[in-house]
Amino acid sequence: MEQPLYFPTRVHLLVCTGPSCTRVGSRELFARVWKRLEDENIAYYSSGGNVRLTETGCLGACSFGPNMTCYYTENGALREAWYSSLDEDSFMNVARALQQGRPAPVEHRYDKR
Ligand code: FES
Repeated sequence: MEQPLYFPTRVHLLVCTGPSCTRVGSRELFARVWKRLEDENIAYYSSGGNVRLTETGCLGACSFGPNMTCYYTENGALREAWYSSLDEDSFMNVARALQQGRPAPVEHRYDKR
């Protein structure tokens, strides 16, 4: 039986495209960062990169969008980081840091204070 291609995943980024985040540009943000991940050859689908990007529903922080949550591993343990008020550069800062195994950036992060 044929199976889907699989590449090991280093980080999974989930951008909210719920109604409130959409009103402040999350769908446009998603399209732009998808292209940038592909241009940097780290997007999961383009060339076997290890960064997955997925649209998701409401993350429960509607007044602060565009929002994103990330899942990644650190020292073999599954970790999470939650971000609000993202723009393209702050998104890419998070994506690159986690893809390179650096700590999750604190700018725009709201689960750690
Ligand atoms: S619509 Fe994005 S957090 Fe609720």
